[in-house]
Parts: sequence; structure tokens; C-alpha cells
Amino acid sequence: MMRVLFVTSECFPLIKTGGLADVSAALPLALTERGVDVRMLLPGYPAVIDGLDGRRVVRTLSGLPGGKSGRLIVGQLANGVTAYAIEQPELFERPGNPYLAPGGADWADNDVRFGTLGWVAAEFAHTGSSHQWQPDILHGHDWQAGLMPAYVAFQGGRRPGTVMTVHNIAYQGQFSPHTLSALQLPAHSFQMEGVEYYGGIGFLKAGLYYADRLTTVSPTYAREIQSPAYGCGLEGLLAHRTDHLEGILNGVDYGIWNPSTDPHLTSAFSPDRLDAKVANKAALQAEFGLEPRLDAPLFALISRLTWHKGADLLVESLPTLFARGGQLVVLGTGDKSLEAALLRVAGSHPQVAGVHIGYDEALAHRIQAGADVLMVPSRAEPCGLTQLYAMRYGTLPLVRRTGGLEDTVIDATPAALADGCATGFAFDEPTPGALTWTVRRAIDLFQDRPRWQRIQRHAMARDFGWEASAQAYADLYRRLRPGC
Ligand code: ADP
Ligand code: GLC
Repeated sequence: MMRVLFVTSECFPLIKTGGLADVSAALPLALTERGVDVRMLLPGYPAVIDGLDGRRVVRTLSGLPGGKSGRLIVGQLANGVTAYAIEQPELFERPGNPYLAPGGADWADNDVRFGTLGWVAAEFAHTGSSHQWQPDILHGHDWQAGLMPAYVAFQGGRRPGTVMTVHNIAYQGQFSPHTLSALQLPAHSFQMEGVEYYGGIGFLKAGLYYADRLTTVSPTYAREIQSPAYGCGLEGLLAHRTDHLEGILNGVDYGIWNPSTDPHLTSAFSPDRLDAKVANKAALQAEFGLEPRLDAPLFALISRLTWHKGADLLVESLPTLFARGGQLVVLGTGDKSLEAALLRVAGSHPQVAGVHIGYDEALAHRIQAGADVLMVPSRAEPCGLTQLYAMRYGTLPLVRRTGGLEDTVIDATPAALADGCATGFAFDEPTPGALTWTVRRAIDLFQDRPRWQRIQRHAMARDFGWEASAQAYADLYRRLRPGC
């Protein structure tokens, strides 16, 4: 049986800052169901170590980057997948956000912290754990795992296949060159044909350079990141490696995101019981102190608040949205100026706008269930999961046509409406004008209840489960290691 080690820095429900955690939880399970033996390697944050069922020490780890030592712990995730954690208290025993110190700045030693993740992954494949589970493939996710393929490239002996998945090219893990030796990278690797990137050590760059195969999380994003507009400086390398780069769309864990079984909702609903969705809308309006008007189209945003996610565009569209009778709820955290701008809107329009700054998993479910439209006005979006969750909850996504948003949402154009294939709304230019125009289209269509409900039912019936995507990863592994 093919053995794959997932090297990742997040996994729902133990540690999550975004979609990577959802993917790290769901994809291994879907692969397991396809006959791939997947295990995980995670940094030993307190939440990870505490969350591993039946945990025990596998072995000690010595000679880690920075001259540290630690222990490899193994246990079971709640979904039954086996996970290893690197117990190294100096590096990982820090509660809260895995990347940021309490003040909001990156932890100063993130290079050693995540270099250690890559280092242990490579060493793991080389020597195996004490019970002899040796991966055939190391599958790293994002910059945090970026040094893994580099370490593998410099190892002698048995060499596993390496795959790197880019979940977001905007986060690259760029560090000072001075830690090269602490990271145990050979001096000769510090060059363009190696780990060097703009005079520093580029973790993601290293991963993209050394891994056998590269993937990203939607076909459109795979094309986009080979261009200067989206590649964030890595477009040249990616274009060079185009034959080894593939876009595989993320899926949804419908065990967790299912409006007929979701424990967080006021009222369960399904395409056959769509009327029951309104109780969730009423509850959401009450929770945010909005006017209890079921006839008001309720727009929502659930997002990390960063420039890429386009919350600033949304703010500019709000005068039109409110003037046309719409309401808004926001759940998000991130950039302080975006948080402040959204709070100002809520302060000046308390009856039609409510903003919750923070991270709240249960509230995210309640908003998906209660809203009419979920806005994802991203300037770039590798895949995006919230628009997929929204569709299952009969909440029509309103998205910018980019990356995975382009691959998953069908705009309600006259032709799509006539065909019955529309699932939401999409606009092209990342400008307030284009977004505002699309908000107007959504509000107009909302008045046509029978037509709106037809789109809702169609959106709810779309299947974005993991089956096809997990198969695509399994095929990729088998092409890389045909004998396994
Ligand atoms: P990204 O990974 O870029 O943040 P995705 O759409 O892929 O975007 O995934 C975002 C995930 O994080 C979803 O599961 C979404 O529900 C969740 N999320 C984002 N912001 C919040 C928040 N403030 N509170 C709760 N969940 C959130
Ligand atoms: C990243 C991307 C998001 C994607 C998620 C999971 O955080 O920003 O678009 O859905 O990873 O792959």
C-alpha cells in the first residue's frame, strides 16, 4: 500500500487559521478511503499534542536545526487518521496563532520552527520511525513545509518522492540568509538553483525548486501563478516547471458542512425543506441586532481580513447595498485598518450591518445558514472554501472571477439562468464599481423568489466532495512511485 506523509502546519479542529486546516483534515481521510496509507506530521503546538488520542513517544529526535532535540509523538486524530507531532517545547509550546506572536508580528524564529518541520519530515522518510513506517511520498503544504524537498535532495540513501502543494503563493516564508547553517542547509544550496531567493532563504521557493511534483488547489490558479500578476515573483520558476505543476480543486467535507445535520444551526434544512432556512436568517438578524426583515437580502463575509480577500472593495459597495435595502453581517479578523473600517460601518448603520471581529467556528456555520449571499470579492483566491460551503447552505456566492472562485461558481447571466445552471454571481475587475454592480444584480434577482429558490436548489445540489480530487492526488502519487 502506498504510504504518504502529509507535512502540514495546520489541521482542523486542532489548529486552524484558514482553509489549509480544513484540507489537511479532509483530504487524508478521502485518500485513506482510496487505499492510500496517509499519516500526518505536524508541529507539536499544545493544541496538537493535547488533541492526539492515545499518544505515545515514538522516539527522541536529536540534531534538529539550531542544535535542538525533541521527541516524536504519535497518536490518532479525531477522524481516525494517524498523526505524528514534533514535541519541541522551545519552538512549539506557544498557544494561540501558530505563526504570530501576541502583538501580531511573525515569531522571530519561524525559520527554525518550520525548518524543523521540513527537517523531521525528511529524516523520517530516511530512517523511518521505530515501528518501521516509512513513507514512499512526502507531501508538503505551503511554505511551512518548503524546506522538506530540499533536505530530501541533500540526503543520501533511500529517497522518497516529494510533492509540494501551494495553498497560497502570497505567503512564501522569506528569511535571512544567516540561518543557513543553523538550518543545516549546505553552503552550495545558497544559489538561484537552490534555496536562495532575493538574497535570503526562500522556503516556498526551495520547495518549488526541489520537489518532484507541484500542485496547487485549482486549475485556474495553477495557470494564474505562472504569470507576473499572480505569481508573486515565483512565476518564472513555476512556468519553468509547468510540466510538473497541476491544479487539483479542493473539496468539502460534507460530514461537517451539511445543513441537514449541522449542530450549530437553529433550524436544519435541505433542498426539499428550503423554507426551514429562514429561521436561521431570523436568528442571525437577532444575533447581530439587525432589523428582523426577512425580505431584506442579507449579505455576509466570513474571511481573514487581508488585502487579497478584497474586504476594502466590499466596504466601498456598501452605500449601494444599504440604499437598495440590503443588510450585512461580517465575521473576520486580520488587518487592523480593515477591521476598523468594518466596525465603523457597523457603528454608523447598526440596524442593517453587524460586524464580529474574531475567529468563531460555530458562528461561521450560523452565518452560512442564515445569509442569502456570501461575498468573496478576492483579488486572488487559490481555491476558496467558503463559497463551496455557501452553496451547500443555499447561500449564493458572490465572487470575483479568479482562481478557484472562477472554477466553482457559475454566474447568473441571462444565458445561465435560462439554462438553469447558475449558482451565484461573479465579476471580473477587482474594483468597487464592478462589485457594486454585481451587488445590484444580486439584489434585483433576490426579488424574484421562485427564480432565486431555483438557483439555491441548484447550488445546493452541486457536488464538491473530495472523491474526484482525492483520486487525482492518488493518481499523482502512483505516477511518481509506480511500484507502490
Ligand atoms: P483562506 O484559507 O484563504 O482563509 P478559505 O476559503 O480556503 O480561505 O478557508 C477559510 C476557512 O476559514 C473556512 O473554513 C472559513 O469558514 C474559515 N474562516 C475564515 N475566517 C473565519 C473566522 N473569522 N471565524 C471562523 N472561521 C473563519
Ligand atoms: C489557502 C487559500 C485558499 C484555499 C486554502 C486551502 O489558504 O487562500 O484559497 O482554499 O488555502 O487550500
